[in-house]
Amino acid sequence: MITIISSTNRKNSFTKKLANTYNLLCKEFNMQSQIFDLQYLPQDFIFSCSYGRSTKEFDELLNKYFLKAEKYIFIIPEYNGTIPGILKALIDCADYKSFKSKKVSIVGVSSGRAGNIRGVDHLTSIFHHLGSEVFNINPKLSNINLSYKENELIDDKYLELIKNHLNQFNEY
Ligand SMILES: Cc1cc2nc3c(=O)[nH]c(=O)nc-3n(C[C@H](O)[C@H](O)[C@H](O)COP(=O)(O)O)c2cc1C
Repeated sequence: MITIISSTNRKNSFTKKLANTYNLLCKEFNMQSQIFDLQYLPQDFIFSCSYGRSTKEFDELLNKYFLKAEKYIFIIPEYNGTIPGILKALIDCADYKSFKSKKVSIVGVSSGRAGNIRGVDHLTSIFHHLGSEVFNINPKLSNINLSYKENELIDDKYLELIKNHLNQFNEY
């Protein structure tokens, strides 16, 4: 099972649209997948699930989306030159076993030109620190706001890039 993490709690985000595109392609390629949308994290998790404390709801989310999955694809939008704070907060609140020895792939997204290249590097460093195995192909999708018409990815080059990425991550 691959968990695709839509790494923002912003409503109507392009990150979520891209997570949906990945999920649909996984189905097309007969790869088992599910989306973890950070929009649906418990609203107070930063306080109620940190520093040794947790809740049943948070544990169940970690179990379903991380502990029971073998591989993760993190779709990470560029917020102020790096990963969204909500993603770092989730990593700080989660048990390190959620990430240790897991196969992780990272996809950067931005409306600007960089495709969150720095955020991809920052998150790679964090996952190396946590003992994850980070896949070396990291698509970086810039100008993402111009690449979707409603919920459909209309940029053929990006579609090809994502298909290649998924096929290679499947063999990883
Ligand atoms: C708090 C915040 C900070 C942002 N900072 C950047 C940035 O540093 N560089 C950039 O290219 N885009 C930046 N953006 C725009 C996002 O890259 C853009 O919204 C894009 O669609 C991906 O984010 P989304 O998934 O929330 O839609 C920022 C957006 C937000 C909400």
